[in-house]
Amino acid sequence: MIIRAETKEDWRAVENLIRESFWNVYRPGCMEHYVMHCFRDNPIFVPELDLVLEKDGQLIGQVMYVHTALELDNGGTLPIMVFGPICIAPEYKRQGYGKYLLDASLEKAKAMNAGGIVIEGNIDFYGKSGFVVAKTKGIRYADDPEAEYLLCRELTEGYFNGVKGVFRDPEGYFVCQNNPEAFDAYEATFPPKEKLKLPGQLFEA
Ligand SMILES: CC(C)(COP(=O)(O)OP(=O)(O)OC[C@H]1O[C@@H](n2cnc3c(N)ncnc32)[C@H](O)[C@@H]1OP(=O)(O)O)[C@@H](O)C(=O)NCCC(=O)NCCS
Repeated sequence: MIIRAETKEDWRAVENLIRESFWNVYRPGCMEHYVMHCFRDNPIFVPELDLVLEKDGQLIGQVMYVHTALELDNGGTLPIMVFGPICIAPEYKRQGYGKYLLDASLEKAKAMNAGGIVIEGNIDFYGKSGFVVAKTKGIRYADDPEAEYLLCRELTEGYFNGVKGVFRDPEGYFVCQNNPEAFDAYEATFPPKEKLKLPGQLFEA
C-alpha cells in the first residue's frame, strides 16, 4: 500500500473514484468529483497534499487540501487548511484505509508548517484522528454558528488558543451551485448512474 502525489494521468480515475464513493451518500448523486475537477487550477489548492492511496497497484483513496483563513472577530485572519474531498473506494470502506490516508496527510500538512485544520464532517470518523468540535475552540461556522459538525484540529500546539472567529467555506466548494450548466455537462461525460433519495442524506438535491 502506498500514498503518493496525484499525477495528471490519475485525474480522470481520481474523479471517477470520488464519484463512486460519494454517490448518494450526502444527496441524490454527488458533486464532489466536479469540485475536485475544478480545484486543481485554483491558487489556494495545495499540490503537495493532493494525494492518492494505492493498494496492490489499484487506486482506492484520495484526499486534497486547500489554503484558507479564519475571519477573526478582532478583524484579523488566521491561516488554516481545509481538506476534502477525501474518499475511499466503496468496496474498501470501513477497513481502516480512510484513517490511514487521513493521518498520513495530516503528518505531511504538519511537516509543511500548517498550523491548523478546519473541516465539516462526522466526529465519529474525524475524532479518531484528533479532531474536536470547532466551536469548543472559539471557531464558528459562518452558515450555522452552533454547528456540531464543524471540526478542527491543531497541527501546531496552541494554534487555536484564544481564537474567536468564523470559518467560511472557500468559494471553490460551490462550483456546482455557481455553474450548474457546466456541472451537468461534466457529469454527462460519466456513465449514467441512478440518483436515489436515501435516509440519512444531508441534502435533498
Ligand atoms: C469517510 C471515509 C473517507 C472514511 O474512510 P474509511 O476507510 O471508510 O474509514 P475507516 O475504516 O478508516 O474508519 C475508521 C473509524 O472511523 C469511524 N468511521 C468511519 N466511517 C464512519 C461513518 N461513516 N460513520 C461513523 N463512523 C465512521 C469508525 O469508528 C471507524 O472504525 P470502525 O470501522 O472500526 O468502527 C469513507 O467512508 C468514504 O469515502 N466515505 C464517502 C465519502 C465521504 O463521506 N468522505 C468524507 C466527507 S467529510
